[in-house]
Amino acid sequence: MKVTVVGAGAVGASCAEYIAIKNFASEVVLLDIKEGFAEGKAMDLMQTASLNGFDTRIVGTTNDYSKTADSDICVITSGIPRKPGMTREELIGINAGIVKDVSSNLVKHSPNTILIVVSNPMDTMTYLVHKTTDLPKNRIIGMGGALDSARFKYRLAEALGAAISDVDGMVIGGHSDTGMVPLTRLATRNSVPITEFISEDRLEQVKEDTKVGGATLTKLLGTSAWYAPGAAVSGLVQAIACDQKKIFPCSTLLEGEYGMDDLCIGVPVVLGREGIEEIVTIDLNDDEKSHMEESADGVRKTNSLLEL
Ligand code: 2OP
Repeated sequence: MKVTVVGAGAVGASCAEYIAIKNFASEVVLLDIKEGFAEGKAMDLMQTASLNGFDTRIVGTTNDYSKTADSDICVITSGIPRKPGMTREELIGINAGIVKDVSSNLVKHSPNTILIVVSNPMDTMTYLVHKTTDLPKNRIIGMGGALDSARFKYRLAEALGAAISDVDGMVIGGHSDTGMVPLTRLATRNSVPITEFISEDRLEQVKEDTKVGGATLTKLLGTSAWYAPGAAVSGLVQAIACDQKKIFPCSTLLEGEYGMDDLCIGVPVVLGREGIEEIVTIDLNDDEKSHMEESADGVRKTNSLLEL
């Protein structure tokens, strides 16, 4: 199993590290445009192999896409991260050109790959990849909901005073500070609805804290987060590589599902060796449907800024 990660910055390097530690891939190629940067990160990570017990070979390259040839899965993290006070959507001017160039180079060397898009504004970057490559829609996946759901579970466990391993919940919709739809109605604590444990008001706070989870960290760190984004995308890579048939909320091209068409937005999908193997339709209530529609309007607005 060969995986390529483009962008050896904090998110890309964390993703490569988590993939290596999970030890399901034979090779991870880390590519960056900055001279020697990916080679250095790869070498540093390889020097943890005997300490962290993995056999995955991590190889760095400075912008040599031939080294990525025949990758089963490619992850795009390249582009600029947001700074405090910025929205993800403000990154489109620079990141769209980068993502278009990177995805084209990846597909040229790995025509059968499965592409996972992380770069922001993620839903629009995922849509851009659909419009500029000829990969089938099951092989283009946007990572946002897996990260947002991890933040949702963190906030739920905090509010419940519960073990995070006991908490389950999903965030769908756009990966944006205003567009996320945390499905509080369906969240559980060891199969018990969380509404049994906390008040509506506290649940509203959990939803709001979840939506700005990224912005909260950007304010504290001075740049975008990287551990949870890297871990989230490594979970998608593992589900595909190991054909796990796991459900994650991922940004995918909708063609009528959820009453939406011609946009990429976060919905539950089954991930396996073929990438997105099924789009799971949840019976949303009126409030959830209206939030999804608002979220889709926001994604369409950002999509309209693309020069396709
Ligand atoms: C985040 O929410 C980088 O969009 C990513 O942290």
